[in-house]
Amino acid sequence: MGPTIKLSSGHEMPQVGFGLWKVDNATCADTVYNAIKAGYRLFDGACDYGNEKECGEGVARAIKDGLVARGDLFITSKLWPVFEDGDKVEPACRRSLADWGLEYFDLYLIHFPGALKYVDPAVRYPPGWHYDGKAEIVRSATPMHVTWASMESLVGKGLARSIGVSNFQAQLLYDVLRYATVPPAALQIEHHPYLVQKELLALCKAEGIAVTAYSSFGPASFLEFGFKHAAALVPLMKDDLITGLAAKYGKQPSQILLRWATQRGLAVIPKTSRVEIMSQNLDCTGFDLEQADLDSITDKDAGIRFNQPSNYFATDKMWIFG
Ligand SMILES: NC(=O)c1ccc[n+]([C@@H]2O[C@H](COP(=O)([O-])OP(=O)(O)OC[C@H]3O[C@@H](n4cnc5c(N)ncnc54)[C@H](OP(=O)(O)O)[C@@H]3O)[C@@H](O)[C@H]2O)c1
Repeated sequence: MGPTIKLSSGHEMPQVGFGLWKVDNATCADTVYNAIKAGYRLFDGACDYGNEKECGEGVARAIKDGLVARGDLFITSKLWPVFEDGDKVEPACRRSLADWGLEYFDLYLIHFPGALKYVDPAVRYPPGWHYDGKAEIVRSATPMHVTWASMESLVGKGLARSIGVSNFQAQLLYDVLRYATVPPAALQIEHHPYLVQKELLALCKAEGIAVTAYSSFGPASFLEFGFKHAAALVPLMKDDLITGLAAKYGKQPSQILLRWATQRGLAVIPKTSRVEIMSQNLDCTGFDLEQADLDSITDKDAGIRFNQPSNYFATDKMWIFG
């Protein structure tokens, strides 16, 4: 087992995990199985990824083959915005658990702030952003304290060992901290050298909230959506500073990017469909960068965000990072 981060809930979270977004349904079970074989113990899933059943199949096969026991794994899932009404949280969590074939999640996160009108899973699952499945964004009136109280009840019922949030910013985090009886143990955010979010990291450090970086390779994950601002940037793996540091430390550029995050105390969850890359990405805690090199990567910050709803579809109703 690699290094872990102690959460405020008392549970340990592996510092390096495997991301499950955009992992094909057809290959997902094998990918999860192979990742477990490669040594991954944390898997970052979500209802929205549409592959929780296949992820569960990979886990079940690994347990059956004696590679791991359930207790060796740390499984994360996420609540989609259409399930943020108070009475919809538990059924959504139970649906994800059933798909995975699990009795509890190690970590259950609110995927995005901002409740949307409920969509019955019988109508469409995963539901996506649009109420009509096409273009209509319909907000729900549910305030965050209601959603959070339901998240807390999952802990009491043993459905989630730790709870947290994703894509939240400072003001809403402070709001949750005011009324939480179970404070958010973790925040998962987009974090790479083009989007550092230094103040948010400082807030989390001060409040004892563990931070997981997603999309650590920056634009790489967003080229397939045709995002012009992703294509216009120098790929981080080809950036002169990053390749120079890779040569200096005898590592891959990807490992430099991941170590920049882990050495600063963050967890990372890189995704790859290639078995040969899995162990390389996992190997991002066993060497150290000099402080000046860490700082020079941090100084690349350009405040460029890729993963926000308004980049995927036109709407005036989802400016959640505004
Ligand atoms: N909470 C949220 O809203 C949210 C949003 C986004 C992501 N996430 C989570 O974070 C995870 C990671 O983020 P991500 O999937 O966006 O992106 P990522 O892990 O930063 O990058 C994945 C991309 O980089 C490539 N890649 C991976 N390892 C590489 C390496 N060593 N060298 C070169 N290329 C490499 C992958 O291609 P190949 O597959 O071909 O290797 C893929 O195109 C997700 O899977 C998901 O679990 C959460």
